[in-house]
Amino acid sequence: MTEQKRSEIESELVATARRVLPGGGFGNVSHELVIARGHGSHVWDVSGNEYVDYLLGSGPMIVGHAHPEVVDVVQQVVAEGTTFFANNPYGIRLAAEIVDAVPCAEQVRFVSSGSEADAYAMRLARAYKKRDKILKFEGGYHGMSDYGLMSLAPKRAGNFPQPIPDSAGIPRSVRDEVLVAPFNDLDTVASLVREHKDELAGIIVEPFQRLVPPKPGFLEGLRKLTEQNGLLLIFDEVVTGFRFAYGGAQQYFGVTPDICTLGKAIGGGFPLAAIAGRADIMAHFDKGAVAEDAFMVQIGTLSGNPIAAAAGLKTLEILKRPGAYERIFKTGRALMEGSRRILKDAGVKAAVVGDAPMFDVIFTEREVQDYRSSLGDEATMKRCNAFLRAHGVLKSESKYYISAVHTDEDVRVTLDAFANAIAALRDAHAA
Ligand SMILES: Cc1ncc(COP(=O)(O)O)c(C=O)c1O
Repeated sequence: MTEQKRSEIESELVATARRVLPGGGFGNVSHELVIARGHGSHVWDVSGNEYVDYLLGSGPMIVGHAHPEVVDVVQQVVAEGTTFFANNPYGIRLAAEIVDAVPCAEQVRFVSSGSEADAYAMRLARAYKKRDKILKFEGGYHGMSDYGLMSLAPKRAGNFPQPIPDSAGIPRSVRDEVLVAPFNDLDTVASLVREHKDELAGIIVEPFQRLVPPKPGFLEGLRKLTEQNGLLLIFDEVVTGFRFAYGGAQQYFGVTPDICTLGKAIGGGFPLAAIAGRADIMAHFDKGAVAEDAFMVQIGTLSGNPIAAAAGLKTLEILKRPGAYERIFKTGRALMEGSRRILKDAGVKAAVVGDAPMFDVIFTEREVQDYRSSLGDEATMKRCNAFLRAHGVLKSESKYYISAVHTDEDVRVTLDAFANAIAALRDAHAA
């Protein structure tokens, strides 16, 4: 197993990035890496090093990079014009496909990012219920808005339901409008709902929070509580939509929310996301359908962009074919089981957390069931990821994303690299 080399061109680009970009990067994955191209389940950096890619562009590339059918349709559509700020056939067809596939979706509004979709979904709940407060879960990721950045990754343990802002620059007043509960803890949610039900508009939740699965009955319990107390239930399916199943986590777990947000997969690698939900709720986006003071103005220059919509439609068409989800689950399970075996053989205490379409190894001895218990030994995780990266396996700091085109050979190479990484970590620990 050879370690990868950096070319002069890549080193120069990294140096330029350090000069002109804050922190030397776009704010995403390792800034020491400049990716030049991708094909299928692999990407190549500017130096020509090849990686098995589990970053998948942070999720959208679920049918692989530069899928020939996606490239084909994008080339056709781009030659017809790139954006019109008007309805276009691809966006309309994509909305119809989402309505067919996703249980809660009767209507769809497009935006350009998951962050926007989540911000609008929370506003939609507030507009519909005419109340200000939203309940979210500690560690739940709902984009970069002031509300989304409440207790996403708090450095210190606050007292529930008090939120802790994750960013500078968020007005103090936002803290008064967000309640925070521990994921998978229905009793705490129930008591917060009892106490605040006249102020609460709804509950937003990632049905599979980061890598943490919902305990049996948790999502069903949220559905029941929200129904009984007249609150809206929002599923953030930016990650899970079309990934856990064609109808998303709501289909996979059999619990239908009132509204959901979608992103990543539905844009086929282009900027596109959506809010989808019950028609009477979505009516707030329609000036003609609600009273003037209930209307939610929502405009976006690139909303429903034809290229993104065409790429998304083709991605969904590929995912819908027999065998696509079977492949994702087979690959993910092989990697999860293989990683568990390697950790056990090496006597390293760690948990392989998640489900086949997305999972990771967390260096902890605890049972992972919420944000706090998901915090493992971050330094070891970083070293492990850096080792994998240096040996041709690319993943984010906190997740493997599995595509429909990863191969058995990718699994073999990855488990080989992981076994070497664990051996190196153990040796370093012993030294
Ligand atoms: C669950 C969830 N919601 C929202 C977002 C934000 O989406 P975007 O990065 O498109 O703004 C993300 C991004 O990873 C996410 O994982």
